[in-house]
Amino acid sequence: MLNRRKPIYLRCILLERVFPDGFLWGTAISSFQAEMGVGEPSDGTDWWAWVHDETNISVGRVSGDTPLDGPGFWEHYDEDLRLAGEDLKNNSIRLAVDWGRVFPEPTESVEVDVKRDRWGNVWKVELEEDDLDALDGLADGDAVDRYRMILESAHSHGLTPMLTLHHWPIPLWLHDPIACRDDMDSTDKRGWISQSTIVEFAKLAAYLSHRLGDLVDLYCTVNEPRIISEHGYLTRRGEFPPGLNDPSLFLTCLKHTCIAHGVAYEQVKRWDRHGASPLGPSTVGLVAVLQHYEPADPGNPDDVWMSQYIDYAFNEWNLNAVFHGDYDMNLDQLVEPSEHLPHQIKGCDYLGVNYYARWRVRHRNTGVDPLLDYEFAPCSGDCSDYGWDIHPEGLRDVLRWAYRRYRRPIYVTENGVADRGDRLRTRYLRSHLDELYNAISLDGVPVRGYYYWTLMDNFEWSDGYKIRFGLYNVDRETKKRTPTKAVPVYREIAERNGLP
Ligand code: BGC
Repeated sequence: MLNRRKPIYLRCILLERVFPDGFLWGTAISSFQAEMGVGEPSDGTDWWAWVHDETNISVGRVSGDTPLDGPGFWEHYDEDLRLAGEDLKNNSIRLAVDWGRVFPEPTESVEVDVKRDRWGNVWKVELEEDDLDALDGLADGDAVDRYRMILESAHSHGLTPMLTLHHWPIPLWLHDPIACRDDMDSTDKRGWISQSTIVEFAKLAAYLSHRLGDLVDLYCTVNEPRIISEHGYLTRRGEFPPGLNDPSLFLTCLKHTCIAHGVAYEQVKRWDRHGASPLGPSTVGLVAVLQHYEPADPGNPDDVWMSQYIDYAFNEWNLNAVFHGDYDMNLDQLVEPSEHLPHQIKGCDYLGVNYYARWRVRHRNTGVDPLLDYEFAPCSGDCSDYGWDIHPEGLRDVLRWAYRRYRRPIYVTENGVADRGDRLRTRYLRSHLDELYNAISLDGVPVRGYYYWTLMDNFEWSDGYKIRFGLYNVDRETKKRTPTKAVPVYREIAERNGLP
């Protein structure tokens, strides 16, 4: 028997690599990626419009695959959660709600009190009980009931749910991605570029935490502000809605998604009054993607500068905003008085870290805005099917960095590998868990849980189904789930709460 009561240093000496008591072991999934394939589709969001748009398909922004060929979690949830709980021996699951399913119709008619600061930024949204009743009248009751059934099923399989409020799709009534792509001025449905999306998101957060709070104690507000902003407003391929290439929109989106975290945080804290577990009633955090960046050529000062700049823009910026109220809108790495917005600091009980890979940064030196003047060197070492450079040590580095700088408990909310041939996943999992263990035991980082991305193969956004992250492979026709080689490995680790 493993003795979990020994102090951590003694366990290290004894080489019993045991994780802290109560550690959460799970997998992460998201609504748009996993739900469709069987049963009612969710066809009222920007992402739905985006992946079906003929122009996007023909120019290669998206693959042409449809989420309608997905794994069908909407119907198969109980079977999948049984796999997570009973087969994988996990004690938690991270899942997301689809905003467009909950509110297929606009919620703008529910008038709430919105406070703005002197620069026009929303900084407080106040709802009353009546507003929640009005929202109830607009919500799709069947969809909300289905989410309740999913959460109840999670509990019945021994899984503490971690609920993500926003894992990317926005209802079409708030974001018309095709109109924005073609001419932003032609529409007022501008998604995260418009602060009205922040207000409607506050309503979603209030409503969901009120309606589902008796089943949920752990919340993620926004999944990865940086990825939403970068892939929607910065990359050359333009693969995420609305596919633009404009540094100032990138920063606007980053800013607004960070403010959205704050207003959602306040709503969940106010409206979830029920504890569903000893963690209750609500522990609320932001999920940030933190990657390891380094200069492609460490002897080239331009690469060195650019790597530091990208690290700042991509890893640090969103955390400085949420934790310090620093909104450095010109990216000069100095916070002018008008960029310091302490009233936007609302709290963040933990930091969710999504870590995948190392990126070697090159300065292209074409003289344009630095945000458009970088590129990543092609992966040359240990590469995933995505061409991402596998670098387990980076996980320990980002955890140590984030904890030393922001001093919050951490959950690793995503970590996984694209591996169609099932040749990398087991090694990836083991090596990253080694580094996670080192971060906890040697660096003292208070990591409370780990979620592998992802439970089963799903719809990998603009790249569709060719990319497979799942611990279980899914047959697109029959929907049959088949375990990969990493399943018994993860099961053993979760079951013993430690590394063999
Ligand atoms: C996202 C997931 C995505 C994964 C792999 C993360 O950035 O949260 O939705 O599937 O990366 O690309």
